[in-house]
Amino acid sequence: MTESPSRPQRSPGRPKGVGLGLRHELAKELFETRPREVAWVEIHPENYVGRGGTFAAMLEEARDRYDVVTHGLTQCVGSPDPLDLAYVARLKTLLRDNRATWHSEHLAWCNLGGRFSHDLLPMPFTRASVRRAAETIRELRDRLEIEIAIENASYYGHPGEPEMSEIEFLEEVLDAADCKILLDVNNVWVNAQNHRFDPAAFLSRVPAERVVQLHVAGHFIRPDGLIIDTHAEPVCDGVYDMLDHTLHHVGDVPILLERDGNYPALAVVLDELRRLEAVRARVLEQRRLTPALEVRA
Ligand SMILES: [Fe+2]
Repeated sequence: MTESPSRPQRSPGRPKGVGLGLRHELAKELFETRPREVAWVEIHPENYVGRGGTFAAMLEEARDRYDVVTHGLTQCVGSPDPLDLAYVARLKTLLRDNRATWHSEHLAWCNLGGRFSHDLLPMPFTRASVRRAAETIRELRDRLEIEIAIENASYYGHPGEPEMSEIEFLEEVLDAADCKILLDVNNVWVNAQNHRFDPAAFLSRVPAERVVQLHVAGHFIRPDGLIIDTHAEPVCDGVYDMLDHTLHHVGDVPILLERDGNYPALAVVLDELRRLEAVRARVLEQRRLTPALEVRA
């Protein structure tokens, strides 16, 4: 049996090490056993804002035991609809209670005319989209009074004619909004396979100083080769390799394993967390020993 790693010291609002998305399918066993592999947790605040009962109890328990980071699903920064100001006000209270130092949303769109899509829809890589995203990110930051991190999304087709590449689009939004990024390494991998670009080159261009958090997850490969970002499979070797590459680039940034379906036993999830922690520990040690070699193109 592999020995459990020691849990990094807690520092409210500033998680360290490897965390796990808090899902009710895993929460009971997680809270009961409190495994050392889980250093912090991430929640979707939509599951908790304005809800009592078991949801409120679960959040309370999570706060007692872990640093809790929020990752939103409904205030996508590319949506044509305005922000839901009533929801944003309640989110602000939740963030304050979490002692959060950032909140993340997706660089995508998900609602139009008051109707919501359950999928994150791709923004066109255009200057108009850059302006729309930057406007929303700035408004969200002003209203929540906290740093906003945007997550690069997976997508399966581009709407219309792009005016720039995905990485150029991401760079322009980050600059225009002067915001942080939640860099999803799996999403870069999925997009790179589906749209045929070099994931390592993409990851190297992400401005390291803006990265506050990483996501990794598993995906499903269809018989025709298209990769679907399911979060319901084990993390693949290619994503582990890209995580290694990314950590060389960004340094000690908290890593979150997203598992959103096809749940295995918690012990299997903990095996993945140990492997992620092993990559993290190895790269950080390499950076410590050879900092001069860490400058990468
Ligand atoms: Fe993600």
